[in-house]
Amino acid sequence: MIFDTHAHYDDPRFDADRDTILMNLASAGVGCVVDVSAEFSGIDRVLALADRYPFVYASVGVHPSDTALLTEGKMDILREYAANAKVVAVGEIGLDYHYRLETDPGEADPPREVQKKWFRRQLQMAEELNLPVIIHSRDASQDTLQIMREAHASGIIGVIHCYSGSAETAREYLKMDYYLGIGGVVTFKNGKTLREVVREAPLEKLLLETDCPYLAPEPHRGQRNESGYLDLVAEEIARIKGIDKETVIGTTAENAERFYHIGKSGEVIRRGAEDDT
Ligand code: NI
Repeated sequence: MIFDTHAHYDDPRFDADRDTILMNLASAGVGCVVDVSAEFSGIDRVLALADRYPFVYASVGVHPSDTALLTEGKMDILREYAANAKVVAVGEIGLDYHYRLETDPGEADPPREVQKKWFRRQLQMAEELNLPVIIHSRDASQDTLQIMREAHASGIIGVIHCYSGSAETAREYLKMDYYLGIGGVVTFKNGKTLREVVREAPLEKLLLETDCPYLAPEPHRGQRNESGYLDLVAEEIARIKGIDKETVIGTTAENAERFYHIGKSGEVIRRGAEDDT
């Protein structure tokens, strides 16, 4: 069964048919979904989905673009959210330097120093709670790598979600035992660098992810994405690596269970602060 390690079914673009889609996932070969929060104000919607569906798990965190209004008080609330039994990760957190004040005054991301501060604070929270992290990095490759080096030194486990960096940076992440999240982009015409990364990376370090409703694979590019389309991503990874699709689906699902600490019967395995295995 396919494991979608990064989805946003709480997004308003699923309002009209969310339940229908989720109920039909099993027949599309999808066994598990991690719904990832982005905005602070949307975390309760993410948790509600995880509470409602046994096969949906949650990740709590605040996306770099939404860090301007973060406070220590909200960090305390985040910690309370993270205590929910279905929470398996902290994320998505990271850095996004795409929209800049000079070029996009209307939708500029928070200043870099603000983003870095809350990125580090949320990494610290993940370390305290012994949870893996889901990293968002856009146009911020070097700064993300630097902070993830610090995180590695603290023993944090992470996935670079929707990996979009160079083959060289991917090697650096893999050396630190981080995972790479692979989605629809691998099927895009302009996904050549990502295909090189996928060819080189061990299958044991790859996770399948939709990032739905965004980034639907070819031939659905531009449409609303959903977990059932991951079959096409698995097919492309199989083609690149010269292996069969079922191996890609099976191994990446095992990777996801190991990464998120989900047992064979779907139970979340909470680790004590001392238990680092
Ligand atoms: Ni996302």
